[in-house]
Amino acid sequence: MKKRILLLACLFPVFTATAQKSDIKSSVKDVEAKVDSVLNIMTLEEKVGQMVQYSGTWDLTGPATGDQNQFREEQLKKGLVGSMLNVLSVEATREAQKMVMENSRIKIPLMFGYDVIHGFKTIFPVPLGETASWDLEAMEETARISALEAAADGVNWTFAPMIDISRDARWGRIMEGAGEDPYLTSRVAEAKVRGYQGEDLSDPASIAATAKHFAGYGFAEAGRDYNTVHVGENELHNTILPPFKAAADAGVATFMNSFNDIDGTPSTGNRILQREILKGNWDWDGFIVSDWASIAEMRDHGYAEDLTHAAEIALKAGSDMDMEGGTYETGLVKLVEEGKLDEQLINDAVRRILRVKFKLGLFEDPYRYSNPEAINKIDKAAHREVARDVAKKSIVLLKNEKNLLPLSSSVKNIAVIGPLADDKNTPIGNWRAQGEANSAVSILEGVRNAAGKNVKITYEKGADLGMGERSFLKPLEINKTDKSGFKAAVEVAKKADLVILALGEDAFQSGEGRSQVNIGLAGVQKELMQEIFKVNKNVVLVLQNGRPLEISWAAENIPAIVVAWQLGTESGNAIADVLFGKYNPSGKLPVSFPRAVGQEPLYYNQKMTGRPTNPTDVTYSAYTDEEKTALYPFGYGLSYTIFKYGDLSLSSKEMTQQGSIKVTVPVTNAGSIAGKEVVQLYLRDLVASTTRPVKELKGFELVQLQPGETKQVTFEITNDLLEFYNAERKWTSEPGKFQVMVGGNSADLKVESFELK
Ligand code: BGC
Repeated sequence: MKKRILLLACLFPVFTATAQKSDIKSSVKDVEAKVDSVLNIMTLEEKVGQMVQYSGTWDLTGPATGDQNQFREEQLKKGLVGSMLNVLSVEATREAQKMVMENSRIKIPLMFGYDVIHGFKTIFPVPLGETASWDLEAMEETARISALEAAADGVNWTFAPMIDISRDARWGRIMEGAGEDPYLTSRVAEAKVRGYQGEDLSDPASIAATAKHFAGYGFAEAGRDYNTVHVGENELHNTILPPFKAAADAGVATFMNSFNDIDGTPSTGNRILQREILKGNWDWDGFIVSDWASIAEMRDHGYAEDLTHAAEIALKAGSDMDMEGGTYETGLVKLVEEGKLDEQLINDAVRRILRVKFKLGLFEDPYRYSNPEAINKIDKAAHREVARDVAKKSIVLLKNEKNLLPLSSSVKNIAVIGPLADDKNTPIGNWRAQGEANSAVSILEGVRNAAGKNVKITYEKGADLGMGERSFLKPLEINKTDKSGFKAAVEVAKKADLVILALGEDAFQSGEGRSQVNIGLAGVQKELMQEIFKVNKNVVLVLQNGRPLEISWAAENIPAIVVAWQLGTESGNAIADVLFGKYNPSGKLPVSFPRAVGQEPLYYNQKMTGRPTNPTDVTYSAYTDEEKTALYPFGYGLSYTIFKYGDLSLSSKEMTQQGSIKVTVPVTNAGSIAGKEVVQLYLRDLVASTTRPVKELKGFELVQLQPGETKQVTFEITNDLLEFYNAERKWTSEPGKFQVMVGGNSADLKVESFELK
C-alpha cells in the first residue's frame, strides 16, 4: 500500500489553485471567518467531497461498499475526499496529503483517522480495565501518550473515547467503554478528551478525539452486537447521554453516531439526537462522522430505499461525514439539484468539518502530522513505564482468603499454569492499533522477572483456549475438547507450594462483533481449574478478560482471585507487581460481575420496582434459582490492607438549590501496610416525578493511607448532583428527601439523609 501511494504521488504535477493557502491565511482573522472564506469559494461537489471519508486498504472493520483495493486517488486529486481512515505512517499520509495539496483546486487538507483506543504502539489496559483504576490523571496521561505516538505516525484523529454505557457482559464491546455507570464514564470521557486533544488542538502532538457511539449502542438487545435498542426517553437522558454531554462540554472535536436503531429510528438518521440535542440544546460546534457504512446500512434497517435516500435521511438528521458508505458521494449533489435538500445543510456540515481542520492547524501546515522528526520525540521506555504503572493500578483483587497474597517469602516453588500464562498476545487486547501481536510481557515472564533466584518456577499450559488464527475480523475458535495437557499441569501443581492459574478470555473474545451467550470460562478452562484445585488448594486465579465473567465456582472455591483484564504491553510485570506485593492493589470494578449470565444486563444503579422484596413468597422481583445481587458489585475491589469507614457527618440536613451540603467520612487504614482506597459517594432521590435509581455514583476520591492513619474525606453535594431528566423533560432537581451514601463499593455503604428544600 505504501509503495502504491508513493508511486502515484510522483505522477501528478502541482496544480495551481484558485485560492492559495496563503490567501486564505492572510485574509481572515479568526477560525469562523477562515472557514467562511473557504466555504465561499467551494463548488457543491467540493463541499460534498469534504463530507466523504474513505478507508485505506488495511484494518477494515466492516464490509466496505467500494472497491477495497482501490485507493481513491482520483477523488483525492479532485479534492473530493475530506478524510481517510486507516492510512498510516508518515510516508503514506504525506503522499495522500500531497495528492490533495498538489492537485486539487482548493487544497483542503485531509484528516487521517484511526482507532487509537487504548494506545497506539505502546498498549495500555483495555478501556474497561483502565477504568478500574478510577485514576483520571492516569487515564488522561495514557491518552496523551497515545496521541503523541499516533501523531508521530501521521494520524491526527482518533475514534475514541468510546463512552457507551454498557451493562450487558454478553456484548463484546463492553471492553471498549468505561462500564455501567454514567457518572464514572462522564469523568473518563473528559479525561480522555483532555488527553487526546491536549490544551490546544493546534499542538502537533494533539489529535482530534471522537465521542462514540451516539447513541445507545451499548444497550443492544440481548447483548447481541448491532442489535436493536429499546430505551425510553428517561433512560436515554439519565443514563446514556450524560457521558456524551460531558465530552461535548470538554470540547471534543467530533462525534461518531452508531449502528443501532433506537426506538425505531437508526441513530445515524436520528434528527432529535443529532440536530436537536447535540447541535441544538448542547450548542456543540464539532462534526459528526457516521460509523462504518452506517448511513448505507439504513437500507438494511429497512429505513432507506437506496443510497441516495439514505444520504438524504442522514444529512437531514445531522450526520456530517459518511465513513466508507458511499452515500454522500452518490446522493447529495443530485438531491440538492433536484431541490430535495437545502444546500444550507451541506454548508453547515462542511463548516463544521473545516472548523476542525483549521483548529488542527492543517491549513497552516497540511504535513504537520507527517513529520519524520516526530518519532524522535517518542520516549518508548518512558511510555512503557506509564503502561506498567497504569496496568498495576487497573488490577482488581476480588478475593484473598488465607492471605495467600501477596506471595509470602516462604513460597519457594510456584507452578504457573494455564492457557493464558505465557500468552503474549492476549494482554494486547482487541482494538490494538499498532500494538504488535505477541509483544506483551506474559504472566510467566512477569513472575520470572519478579521471583528472584530462590524461587523455583515451573510452567505448564494445561490446555489451549483460542486456536488457529487470531485476528480482528476472524471468528475465534475455542478449544472445547483437547485436555491432553491436563496431566502434566496437574503434576507440576502437585509439587508446587502455590499455583498461579492464568485463565480468562483470549484477546479476540471481546471487542466488536464478539457477543457471547456464555460468559463463563470458555472451553476446558473450568475443568482445568477443578483438576488443579483437587491437588493443590493454594491457587491464585489470575483472570485476563475484556468483560465481566461468570465465575461462581471459582468465587466459592478458589482462595485468591485477581482480575487482570487485558493490561497491555507491560501486563505480566504489572501483575507480578501485585502478586509479589510491590504494589498494593487498589482497582475497583467499573462493572458488576454476575452470579449467572441470566442476570444480564446487571447493574447497581437499577430501579427499586414496585416489588423490591418480600421474603415470604415468590411474588417479588427476584429469581427463584439464584440471588438477584451481583457476585462482585460495581465499585468492589480488595486491598492487602483493610479500610474502615466511620459514620457520615453532614454539615446540614437541609439544602436549597443554590446551596450545598458537605458530607464527611473518616476512613482509616486498619491494616499493616500502606494502601489506596477509592472512596465513593452515592445519592438517592427517594421520591420524584419519575422513578429513580436505588443509588447513583456522584463522586469519588482516591485516598492514600499509611497503616493506622485516618483521613477525613469530604464531598460537597451541590444541586447539579441532584439533577435529572424529569417527568417534564427538564434537567432539574426536585425538592424532597435524599439519601447520601459513602463507602468502598456500591453494596457496602454508610447512609445518611438530607432534604432539598
Ligand atoms: C466501529 C467504530 C470504528 C470504525 C472505524 C466500526 O466498525 O464501530 O467504533 O471507529 O469501525 O474503524
